[in-house]
Amino acid sequence: MTTRKIILDCDPGHDDAIALFLLCYTDKLDLIGVTTTCGNQTIEKTSRNANNLLHYFNKTNIPLAKGSSKPLNRKVMTCPEIHGESGLDGFTFPNYKDNFDYRVAYQLISDLCLENDKVTIVTTGPMTNLALALIHHPEIKEHIEEIVLMGGSTKEGNITKEAEFNILVDPEAADICFRSNIPLRMLGLNVTRRILVNDDVMENARKINTRGSDLFVKLMKVFNENQKKFFSLPSGPLHDPATIISLLRDDVFTFEDMNVSIDTSNTNKVGKTICTKEKPFNCKVATDVNLEKYWEVIYDHLKRCL
Ligand code: RIB
Ligand code: CA
Repeated sequence: MTTRKIILDCDPGHDDAIALFLLCYTDKLDLIGVTTTCGNQTIEKTSRNANNLLHYFNKTNIPLAKGSSKPLNRKVMTCPEIHGESGLDGFTFPNYKDNFDYRVAYQLISDLCLENDKVTIVTTGPMTNLALALIHHPEIKEHIEEIVLMGGSTKEGNITKEAEFNILVDPEAADICFRSNIPLRMLGLNVTRRILVNDDVMENARKINTRGSDLFVKLMKVFNENQKKFFSLPSGPLHDPATIISLLRDDVFTFEDMNVSIDTSNTNKVGKTICTKEKPFNCKVATDVNLEKYWEVIYDHLKRCL
């Protein structure tokens, strides 16, 4: 079976960092590019964080391109309450040098798609870069095997009652992606908010005692504190790695075919992912998660990062 080629478009961000970590420590997926977008923090901060993470994971050979500094048509929205001023509070990296590609994110995405027969695009932040790639280079569509996103919800949102952050920041970009006829796989809050970095998870990670677990524990300590403070959650929901784990294992998430559309109105429903069982189906939507197996994958990879 051929190994899927993956482009990760992200806004690190604590949970993005763990999604990137999994990609850097698996041989089941081939990470061919990383792009950054504004979201959890400004583009400069999310890009610096992605640069630091790729250095830390010894993967500076992977092309990294900075993306959009703002959504397509809306104001910048960041989330320092959860991810802190740096966007990755809790862990201090050595003073790594910048290792950015000469291209902007949507150009790197387009070039990598055209250079490869089939690419899977994983988005764990607002979908601006992918939307720009589809706008400027629609010919890439036939090279994209699947869009796997953390975003949306079949139930309620997190930033507003209706909308989840990644979709709310740039609903127009999400709309372009959801109307693209490219196969979609959505891991939304209805499953990811059940994936909590609780005390048992922290203790299990701590006991692994590797460079990977050290990064995990230090980042999750701050992530948990902020999630408790801002969302009154018992601990942090580890959203973004769900995208990667759904590609690594087919026994962790349950999916249902649905029709998903994006509310791009200027009402209190803006950013809502409207999920129905009416045809035509355009998206596989995660409806359940096996938590024990989810954490099994995380621990297994933490052990590899020596
Ligand atoms: O709503 C959760 C999502 O928004 C996660 O991807 C988190 O990193 C933020 O980007
Ligand atoms: Ca994210």
